Amino acid sequence: MRCDRLWRRARVATLAPGRPGLGLIEQGVVAATDGRIVFVGPESDWPRASRADEEIDLEGRLVTPGLIDCHTHLVYAGDRAEEHERRLAGESYEAIAREGGGILSTVSATRAASEAELVRASLPRLDALLAEGVTTVEIKSGYGLALEHERKQLRAARELAHLRAFTLKSTFLGAHAVPPELAGRAEEYVHQVCTEMIPAIATEGLADAADAFCERIGFSPGETRAVLEAASAHGLAVKLHADQLSNQHGAALAASLRAQSADHLEYIDEAGAAALARADTTAVLLPGAFYFTREKRVPPIDLLRRQGVRVALATDCNPGTSPLASLLAAMNLAAVLFGMSVEECLIGVTRAAAHALALASSAGTLEPGKHCDLAIWNAERPAELVHRIGPNPLHARIWRGH
Ligand code: NIG
Ligand code: FE
Repeated sequence: MRCDRLWRRARVATLAPGRPGLGLIEQGVVAATDGRIVFVGPESDWPRASRADEEIDLEGRLVTPGLIDCHTHLVYAGDRAEEHERRLAGESYEAIAREGGGILSTVSATRAASEAELVRASLPRLDALLAEGVTTVEIKSGYGLALEHERKQLRAARELAHLRAFTLKSTFLGAHAVPPELAGRAEEYVHQVCTEMIPAIATEGLADAADAFCERIGFSPGETRAVLEAASAHGLAVKLHADQLSNQHGAALAASLRAQSADHLEYIDEAGAAALARADTTAVLLPGAFYFTREKRVPPIDLLRRQGVRVALATDCNPGTSPLASLLAAMNLAAVLFGMSVEECLIGVTRAAAHALALASSAGTLEPGKHCDLAIWNAERPAELVHRIGPNPLHARIWRGH
């Protein structure tokens, strides 16, 4: 066998399905050619006659798949530190949103920014993620709420993918809130989203998927269904902010639309969890939003486990409910606040997150044929990636073999 690059003396957590736990190989090697994995396994199985153009000795370091942040709103302008201060003083997220703060205050700032300004404001957040071994990021629009501004946000996301080495999945979230100029006229806005915005965004290839905020302060289940059905009809995949602040039966709705993922899920019920499992829709938990909003209701992990729902974790990086640009911290929060195990956390930011973005055939595990996206850690055991906040244990990040 011949390969471009060979990483040797590694402790490889392949995350390959069907292997116990994280699929750990103690004395492992990973070989890549043209950005794809051609071999991963014990050093003793690496064919002796093989040649590598470049060999890298990892001296026993842990290697995992490059991490995947499968739910972010990281392209936006402005910040909401003051709103956070008000929440600390006792006001609720919902009350602030109803007064025209919350999402709508980021909408004003984002509308006022140019595409270049959005890129400049968002780059540090992206860089923070990448610095911790993230190789795939999902980015949503949803702070424009008018075609030209949603477009601008999605173009800014695309520009980020030109400036940095990572895989981008972009999601149109026009149904995030009703824009101020249509206050009280949600029906009219939903009509616009379905008949003008989705067709334009899909035709221009600006998004891979569509998402909506199904909530008392967002869109009703009926409005949500209309938006996501229009998205499907235009060839976009579907995702949903579901059951975050109240039980809207959003999980069941997402499952009925064959969504890639249903996200948040603090208030999901038994029927919702069963529906996700049946539809093979990934549950994406967002411990950052839970933490920053001081939510009391923990997503029912035991229920999700019992129903056999695949569970991913993401930062939800956004200026309001989750000003968090650290997937390692998200894992720690999920472990401490939700009671998830180290294995569940790591699966959540790799294999399960790949499913949430329909990338399971190319990312999320270390297996021959997949992209060679690696996170190489100054760590020996997976638990070291979960148990602390602060020190960054990343040694190197490899995207597509480089
Ligand atoms: O995922 N829930 C709705 N959207 C974001 C929050 C957006 C915001 O407050 O700006 C979320 O939590
Ligand atoms: Fe979100």
